[in-house]
Amino acid sequence: MNPALINLGYLAASALFIAGLKGLAHPRSALKGNVMGATGMLIAVVMTLLDRRIVNIQTIVVTLALGAAIGATLAVKIRMTAMPQLVAVLNGLGGGASVFVAGVGLLEIQHTEGSPLHHFTAAAVLSGIVGAVTFWGSWVAFAKLQALITEDSIRVSGQQLVMFTLAAVAGGLGLWMVFIPSPYASYWLVVAASSLLGLLLVLPVGGADMPVVIALLNSCSGLAASATGFVLDNHVLIIAGSLVGASGFILTQIMCRAMNRSLIDVMAGITPAGPSSGKAEDIYKGRVKSGSPEEVALLFDAARRVVIVPGFGMAVAQAQHAVAQLAAVLRARGIEVEFAIHPVAGRMPGHMNVLLAEANVPYELLKDLDESNASFDRTDVTLVIGANDVVNPIARTAAASPIAGMPILDVDKSAAVVVVKRSLSPGFAGIPNPLFADDKTIMLFGDARDMVQAIVKALKEA
Ligand code: TAP
Repeated sequence: MNPALINLGYLAASALFIAGLKGLAHPRSALKGNVMGATGMLIAVVMTLLDRRIVNIQTIVVTLALGAAIGATLAVKIRMTAMPQLVAVLNGLGGGASVFVAGVGLLEIQHTEGSPLHHFTAAAVLSGIVGAVTFWGSWVAFAKLQALITEDSIRVSGQQLVMFTLAAVAGGLGLWMVFIPSPYASYWLVVAASSLLGLLLVLPVGGADMPVVIALLNSCSGLAASATGFVLDNHVLIIAGSLVGASGFILTQIMCRAMNRSLIDVMAGITPAGPSSGKAEDIYKGRVKSGSPEEVALLFDAARRVVIVPGFGMAVAQAQHAVAQLAAVLRARGIEVEFAIHPVAGRMPGHMNVLLAEANVPYELLKDLDESNASFDRTDVTLVIGANDVVNPIARTAAASPIAGMPILDVDKSAAVVVVKRSLSPGFAGIPNPLFADDKTIMLFGDARDMVQAIVKALKEA
């Protein structure tokens, strides 16, 4: 195929990636952004296959149809709550693909050029190291999110020293390959050392820090792809990989800030030291008040401003449509309603935004952490639906808790708080929550969807 046409295709694909990424920055344009990114990827894949004359048109069509069928099935079948695991697997596959493609590229360079060019070899080595770390790190992240292992499952004595040695072996061997012609097998030794490094890097990371690691591995998969782009001299892969690498890293930083953790502490599995969160029994004993949907409806009846705080439980209960209906009923009565969205509410970035958008909640009602915190002191009722860690005041005081220093939604500053959940069980961080025993809190025990529907019914009947 004409090289000018191929380059034009690559240019169009790159422009679509950039415009798509921009679109993903806002819920209103996210769907369009997603379609643009996917179209860019389709163009990039077809152009690459035609350019390289790797396969014929029939094979392209069949493999595209197969990939699309797998992707569509996953998209339909996967539960929203299992999304982080899916992202972990996809990151891992990206890293693994980079290892093999760079490996094959290196083999080609060694055979065709006699002595390989330094910069191609350097790119292949980088891709091998980062790709292998991403692949194995992602599988550990998957196993942790799926509760197959915990950070205590496998302990390696002298872990830091072993990791440092592995990094030195992979880096040293890699440098040797770049500057001194070396046997092809050295590449796989680099990959082997990096694979062990990837396993050990993610093993000590605590469950509550997993979202940060997933974002970082996402960034690494982009970096590996970009390096592979240099090996293949494929511009669109370099651009796409850089975009994933940079956006993943920015997301990692945002998540670290949202959880008040440094990336180094997260990766080293360092948890804060100091006073602990206390025992659930001592915190809750005799202090928890529970109410009924009818009582909550009465509270709403007298309110002028209501803030709804959704959390992971709303996703589990698939309560977003009932919540949207409740917001509509309250607004129809002239009550000001807002949604307070914590950046790590749920189990993936943007989890709550996606669910509420699906239920057609107007975007302008969704407020971020800072905006929400500025308004709780003039809120009559805050309704917490299946959220726990993101509203836990322990984050402000107990320095040894897993959420120490994490900025929370200051719901306890509103005049009254209603918490909908099934029991007093802890959230993701596994610690008790003094909010449930606060004087101004009423607990509404039950499934989020059932309870919200019951409140709506009571409001309509009142
Ligand atoms: P969590 O602290 O995990 O609490 C969720 C609460 O929902 C639980 O206490 C549970 O209590 C309740 N729940 C579960 N099913 C329910 C149902 N059907 N109906 C009503 N309630 C239900 O949630 P959160 O406040 O959203 O905080 C998120 C946590 O996950 C943070 O610690 C965060 O660091 C972590 N995390 C976040 C992400 C991202 S990127 N968002 C990714 C991984 C981890 P009951 O069992 O008593 O009902």
